[in-house]
Amino acid sequence: TPVTEAQKIKPVPTLPDAQTVTEVKHWTDRLFSFRCTRPASMRFRSGEFVMIGLMGDPDPKTGKQKPLLRAYSIASPSWDEELEFYSIKVQDGPLTSKLQHIQPGDEIILRPKPVGTLVHDALLPGKRIWFFATGTGFAPFASLLRDPQTYEDYDEVIITHTCREAGELVYGAELIEGIKNDELLRELIGDENLAKLKYYPTTTREESPKMGRITDLMRSGEAFTDLGVEPLNPETDRAMICGNLAFNLELKEMLEDYGLEEGANSDPKHYVVEKAFLD
Ligand code: A2P
Repeated sequence: TPVTEAQKIKPVPTLPDAQTVTEVKHWTDRLFSFRCTRPASMRFRSGEFVMIGLMGDPDPKTGKQKPLLRAYSIASPSWDEELEFYSIKVQDGPLTSKLQHIQPGDEIILRPKPVGTLVHDALLPGKRIWFFATGTGFAPFASLLRDPQTYEDYDEVIITHTCREAGELVYGAELIEGIKNDELLRELIGDENLAKLKYYPTTTREESPKMGRITDLMRSGEAFTDLGVEPLNPETDRAMICGNLAFNLELKEMLEDYGLEEGANSDPKHYVVEKAFLD
C-alpha cells in the first residue's frame, strides 16, 4: 500500500503511559521538582504514590528497552489538573541520574495506578494531625497540605521537616508560603482553616533558626514547647511519617511509646508510615 503523507510525518512512537513534562525546578544540586500532564481518567487520594520513570538503555544483546520505574509520591493535590513530583538527584542512580535532565516537552512514563498508606482513610478521626518528613519525604505532604480535607478533618495541622542543609528546606518553605498567600488556595482552604497550619523546619548539618533532628527535639520536649502543644496522645493526635528508613523506624517506635498504633487503609488507627524514595 502506498505511504500517505500523514503516515510519513507521524511522530516517533510515544512511550507507554506517556505524560509530558510541563515545568522543572532545581532546588539544590541534590533536589528538583517537576510537573507533568495528568491522565484524564486518573483519580487519586492525596498522599498516594505512582510508578514513574523513563525508558532504560537498550539491552546490549537484544537491543530491547525496558521501562525503568520507581515509586514516587504525588506532590500535587488531587484537584490540580497537572501532577507534581519532588525528587532527589543521585549522580549514579539508575533512574534519577537521567530523570534530573528532563525538560518541558519531554515525556516520562507514568503508570496511572495510585496506591499508598499516607491517606486520610487510614486514620481514625482526631483533633490534631502531625506530618513528619525528612528530605524528599516532604512530597506526599505537599499534596496533603494543599487538600482542603486535611483542614476539614483536623483542628490543627503540624508539618515537621528535617533536612541536612537549609537549601533542602526551600521547596517546602515556598510551598507553605504559597498556601498562605495564594488566593485560590486560601479560598479553597479558607483563611480560618489556614490558621491551623504550623510549619516546623529543622536542619542537622547547617546553621538554621532551628537545629536538630525532630526525634531529638521531641524527646527533649523542645519541639512541643516551640509549637505550644502537648506531646502526642492517642486520644487526640494522628500522624503520618515519610522519610529515610532509620528516621521512619525511630519515629515509629516513639509514636508507639506515646500509645499510638499503626493504621492501614483496611484498618484505620492512629498513624501511618511510608518510605521516601531513594534511587
Ligand atoms: P543527620 O544529618 O543527623 O543524619 P538523609 O539526607 O540522610 O536522608 O537525611 C535527611 C535528614 O534526616 C537529615 O537531617 C538526617 O539527620 C535526618 N535523620 C536521619 N536519620 C534519622 C533518624 N533516625 N531520626 C531522625 N532524623 C534522622
